[in-house]
Amino acid sequence: MSNSSISPIVYDYSAIIQLETASPLVRQFGLTRADLDWAAAGLLAARRDVLEDLVLFQKGGPVPAEKEPLDAAFMGLPERFLGRDRAVLDDILATADRLAGEVDRVVVLGIGGSYMGTRAIMEACCHPCHNELSREARKGRPRIYFEGNNVDNDAVAGLLDVLAADDRWAIVVISKSGGTLETAVGFRIFLDALKKSCGGDEEKFRRRIVPITGEKGRLRDLSKALGCPNVFPIHDGVGGRFSVLDPVGLFPAAVMGLDVVKLLEGAAAMNDRFRTAAPGANPVLDYVAVSRLMEVRRGATIRVLSTWGKRLEAVGLWYDQLLAESLGKDNQGTTPLTVVNTRDLHSRGQQHQEGRRDKLITNLIVEQSNRPPLTIEKSPLDQDKLNELAGKTLPDILRAALAGTNQAYAEDHRPTTDLRLPRLDESTLGQVFQMFMLTTIVEGRLIGINPYGQPGVEGYKKNMNAILRAKG
Ligand code: PA5
Repeated sequence: MSNSSISPIVYDYSAIIQLETASPLVRQFGLTRADLDWAAAGLLAARRDVLEDLVLFQKGGPVPAEKEPLDAAFMGLPERFLGRDRAVLDDILATADRLAGEVDRVVVLGIGGSYMGTRAIMEACCHPCHNELSREARKGRPRIYFEGNNVDNDAVAGLLDVLAADDRWAIVVISKSGGTLETAVGFRIFLDALKKSCGGDEEKFRRRIVPITGEKGRLRDLSKALGCPNVFPIHDGVGGRFSVLDPVGLFPAAVMGLDVVKLLEGAAAMNDRFRTAAPGANPVLDYVAVSRLMEVRRGATIRVLSTWGKRLEAVGLWYDQLLAESLGKDNQGTTPLTVVNTRDLHSRGQQHQEGRRDKLITNLIVEQSNRPPLTIEKSPLDQDKLNELAGKTLPDILRAALAGTNQAYAEDHRPTTDLRLPRLDESTLGQVFQMFMLTTIVEGRLIGINPYGQPGVEGYKKNMNAILRAKG
């Protein structure tokens, strides 16, 4: 599916290659073209493997034991919703419009993969002060709150205070398994408050709950018992942290009034590039090659996603989870770390400039702001000495900070690459989501770690439940 209206995101790793030619010393810290050529055969095999996984899943045949669990279905979601499941997408859009018309606040309950992508979408694509705007300025879309992602008593109580003052609110509860304690407990508490706020109007109460869950499980059963008119699926074969382009992310995005078709088209365009482009022109394969080689050959065991702008922080945190839960297995796996610049230049910057040489920094850059640039004006009070910068804009300052930081890193042979987004919108965000989900599974296949499933998370759940349910 090629779409000529897509502005492609660009993965640029030339700074690492250039390091090699600058001085013999930097051979220790950069990569050569020969390194990347060497990696190409393995990457192409991993791509074949990943594409075969999707076919295997779609055929529904037996899955080899070493590939269990095989949650490859996320790859096909963009094409599926834009094609044969367009009716499901239309239902998502219609229900989101209905809900947005009926309420002014929506509480989204969910944790991990059932939360982080939705938060990333909101922070990246909604007005930065969405919840503070008037309903008119929000174009009739509700305010959005996130809960069920912790068991923080005072945070929940605080949100209940806000909701008590307004009876036009609804719940979107998201859990694939339907049994996650944090979300289930949040649902019970907010359901109780919702019931009171609906004042005995059963029909209104039911219409104000939209569950998104797997085909089976406690939340599915509870949704039936409640008689919720709209329940959306989390498809079989779509793992939690790979579900942002399933109703998990699509429905809340539609409630926010965002363009979910553009989100899906962006992701489909990334699928195309992944399937067809050769190494060297394929952002998925190139990112894996560079990150992997830097890890095993140069000791860069920490992958810093250095986001340039506040609206990308939640995208970084979404990626932290994706990478950590997918590849942090068998005593392996690189450590992800999100930073937000320029903020974190004043906190982590020192360590990244002069600390241990164990980091690969990937800058996530938005090339053009969505709003007209704000300018430093001349002032009769020049005690701050900013008149000499008069005429410069905030984007000018951010660009200078990025260029200055990259230069300082390069001068000390600190490796950086750039992932550039022409703008920050649904289309580029869809590309970023799909790119990172694909890089994660390609890398998993390449190094022989199953990227799906998270057996290590079960330990705390088992212990917590045993502690809570112990008698006496
Ligand atoms: O990636 C995953 O599968 C996990 O992070 C889950 O999304 C998280 O544990 C929440 O699970 P559930 O959606 O079943 O409530």
